[in-house]
Amino acid sequence: MPPMKKTILSGSTVTGNLTLGNYIGAINNWRQLQDDYDCLYFLADLHALTVHQDPAILRERIYSFFAQYLALGLDPQKNIIFAQSHVHEHTELSWILTCLTPMGALNRMTQFKEKSAKHTKNINAGLFTYPTLMAADILLYQADLVPVGEDQKQHLELCRDLVGTFENHYGKGLLKMPEPYIGKTGARVMSLQDPIKKMSKSDEVEKNFVAVIEDPKSIEKKIKSAATDSGSEIRFDPEMKPGVSNLLTIYSVLAGKSMAELEAAYAGKMYGHLKVDLAELVVETLRPARERYADLMKNRDHLDQLLASGAARAQVRAQETLKKVYQAVGLVPRKA
Ligand code: TRP
Repeated sequence: MPPMKKTILSGSTVTGNLTLGNYIGAINNWRQLQDDYDCLYFLADLHALTVHQDPAILRERIYSFFAQYLALGLDPQKNIIFAQSHVHEHTELSWILTCLTPMGALNRMTQFKEKSAKHTKNINAGLFTYPTLMAADILLYQADLVPVGEDQKQHLELCRDLVGTFENHYGKGLLKMPEPYIGKTGARVMSLQDPIKKMSKSDEVEKNFVAVIEDPKSIEKKIKSAATDSGSEIRFDPEMKPGVSNLLTIYSVLAGKSMAELEAAYAGKMYGHLKVDLAELVVETLRPARERYADLMKNRDHLDQLLASGAARAQVRAQETLKKVYQAVGLVPRKA
C-alpha cells in the first residue's frame, strides 16, 4: 500500500561544511516536517564527485554530515536517512534519464555554467549531467514534494520536464510529478561579510559563514565582525540594509520572534547590541547539536549501522520504481 502521507525528499551535496544557513534554510525545516510527511533525506555523496575530492576527506565528511543531520534532530526512525551511493538504483535510473535529456537542456543550466567557470580545469561530463542524477534521486521515491533552495529550482524544473518526456515515450502513471516545497518561513541566510550573496557551504572564505559544529569563540567572533550597513537603525530592509537584515533573519528564526518584535526590542539600540545578543543565541542554539555530534562521531559502527538501515529502507522503494522503469523501456527482466 502506498504511504498515506505525502512524500518529501531532499538532500545536500557532501561538500564544504554544513552551515547555519543549511540549518535555518533546510535541516531545521526538515525536522519540523518529520511527523507530518513521509520523509527521505540523503547525503548526495555521488554529486560531490563532480568536483575533485580527496578520498579520505570525502569519507570523513560523509560521516560528519550524517552525524550532523542526526545531531540537529533528524530522527533516523521517523525519516529515511541514507547515503546516495548506498542505493545503486540512483545511478541506474540516472542513466535512463540521461538518455532522455537533450544536451541543450543541460547546457542551459545556470549551475553548470557557474561551476564550469569556477572549475575550468575539471569540466567533466558528471558536472554536465548532474541534474539527471538529481532527477533520479527524486523520481525513484515518487516524491510529491521537494524542498529546494532558489539555486536548485532549475534542476527541479528539468526533473519535471523529464517526467513529461518519459510519459510521452512510455506512457503515463509510472513516475510521480514532483512539486517544489515552499516552506513556511522560507528564510535565506546570507554571507556574513557579503550579505548580498547566499551563505554557502562551499565558501572558501571562513568569515562568510558559521559552521554547525564551530566552536563558540569562533562563532562569536564571526557574528560580531559581520558586515553591517551605513546608518545605525536596526530595521529589516534587505534592499537598503542587507547586513542588519541578515542578522535579524537569523535572530527571528532561532528565537521564534517576528521582525516587528525584534525591531521594537532594538529601537534606539546599536548594531553592537544586536550582535552580542545574536552571537549568544547562535552559540546556545548550536551547543547541544555540537555536543551530540562529538558523541556520535566517536562511534563509527553505530553510524555505519544507521546508514545501512536507512539504505535498506530506501532501497526497497527505489527498487520498485526502477523495476517498473526498466520494464517500461523494454529491458528484459533478469530471471533468478
Ligand atoms: N543538488 C542539491 C544541492 O546541491 C542536492 C541534491 C541532490 C538534491 N539530489 C537532490 C536536493 C534531490 C533535492 C532533491 O543542494
